[in-house]
Amino acid sequence: MPQLLLGIDVSTTGAKALLVDAGGDVLGVANTPLTLSTPRPLWSEQDPYEWWDGVVASVRQVLADTGTDPAAIAAIGLTGQMHGLVLLDDAGRVLRPAILWNDGRTQAQCDEMRARLGRERLIQITGNDALTGFTAPKILWVQENEPEIWAQTRHILLPKDYIRYRLTGEYAIDRAGGSGTILFDLKTRTWSPEVLDALGIPASMMPATFEGPQVTGGVSSEASALTGLASGTPVVAGGGDQAAQATGVGAVEPGIIALTLGTSGVVFAATPAPLVEPEGRLHAFCHTVPGRWHFMGVMLSAAGSLQWYRDSLAPDRSFDDLVNEAAAVAPGSEGLVFLPYLTGERTPHPDPLARAAWVGLTIRHGRAHMTRAVLEGVAFGIRDSFTLIRNAGLGDIRQVRISGGGARSPLWRQIMADVLGVELVTVNTTEGAAFGAALCAAVGAGMYASLPDACRETIQLTGRTQPGQNTAAYDDVYPIYRSLYPALSGSFAALGGLTGNA
Ligand code: XUL
Repeated sequence: MPQLLLGIDVSTTGAKALLVDAGGDVLGVANTPLTLSTPRPLWSEQDPYEWWDGVVASVRQVLADTGTDPAAIAAIGLTGQMHGLVLLDDAGRVLRPAILWNDGRTQAQCDEMRARLGRERLIQITGNDALTGFTAPKILWVQENEPEIWAQTRHILLPKDYIRYRLTGEYAIDRAGGSGTILFDLKTRTWSPEVLDALGIPASMMPATFEGPQVTGGVSSEASALTGLASGTPVVAGGGDQAAQATGVGAVEPGIIALTLGTSGVVFAATPAPLVEPEGRLHAFCHTVPGRWHFMGVMLSAAGSLQWYRDSLAPDRSFDDLVNEAAAVAPGSEGLVFLPYLTGERTPHPDPLARAAWVGLTIRHGRAHMTRAVLEGVAFGIRDSFTLIRNAGLGDIRQVRISGGGARSPLWRQIMADVLGVELVTVNTTEGAAFGAALCAAVGAGMYASLPDACRETIQLTGRTQPGQNTAAYDDVYPIYRSLYPALSGSFAALGGLTGNA
């Protein structure tokens, strides 16, 4: 009987294939790096064919490295970057580069959506306000700016679902990812006829919707020949990367919060009903778990801020070197504050024109202060989202589980615990969204009765970080951090205007 599971994650930086057994033990992982194109200010695009080539390479590699018989794989789960727009013609050919989650070109189309539907009605139906990162305004942008592409469009997919199409030949999508398009009715967990109509999108263009563990098709003979996977292997819906990441650390029931320090920074809380934050400041989407939803606050540059800082200003230093230097600086970085809005922001300031800054530099400050200010600024941004979630009326927060690349740093974990004033726990599962996708596959293959069951059986706590004596110092800096975005947002827009961003 096949007993293995494959999780495939098409992230912004790589195409990953993760092989696990039914108990959740990792047998092998392969990652193929992906390139990002930013052809104009605010634009962010990728080539879907590069995703597919990356997936093929990673799957072949993980099968070869582990010497796995493909027939031993019981099911495959998919996850990937959310919100990206993939347009296909009637023959399934890609019509233009995918427009990604961190693309900020669609402010005018967001305003247009609010005007057509009414902001309140939009939030009432979809759970969310129109933000440039989401898929729906990207579709309006193509309608308005590339009518010749729109005229040829027959299918609209997200990145992970383009991979599903290449693997199975099916046009299908998970409900977590589907709700992130903001073309969904959050309550009914499928496409909203009212929103599709208002935006002039034929329902025939939208893929069929499935819950995370449901089977959406089987590996085709063509995909089998390319990847080495067994023809007919079931492919389950899986989930958008944030819902899959949260699943992979066990945030599948109310009371457990997932805090992810990846390129983006996310605070995620499962909800038992389609709750909506009335102002639309928190995203409200479907979970991978059937009949569950979630709130989420997203900052766009979390570990991405540290990555940018190292790559641009200290390329000859390792992350460990930089963080070790920063450990010697007092909390508050001697009056230096970093605003982490390198790629604009979503929560709590939905503003694609927001910019990053160090505020408070003096001649005394050096690299170590600047590094520490980056770590602290990201923690303050996470506190903004955490506060919104804490005030959303979800009841007690029993546990906060931290994960993602940034969570590997003990100093950053400590700063995060101090700034939030809560205990953070780490778990044994460190393969993130791909692991969550593999758990969806395990449920789809009948190995577990439900995702909460699968999480209980495979996820254990491995460590705890308690808030310490620096909490009070950070409580003094946080209001200053909070005051800076409102003070500078007009200048950010004006600076963008100089370079044609606005
Ligand atoms: C979530 C979001 C990002 C991407 C990153 O709303 O936009 O986390 O999914 O891959």
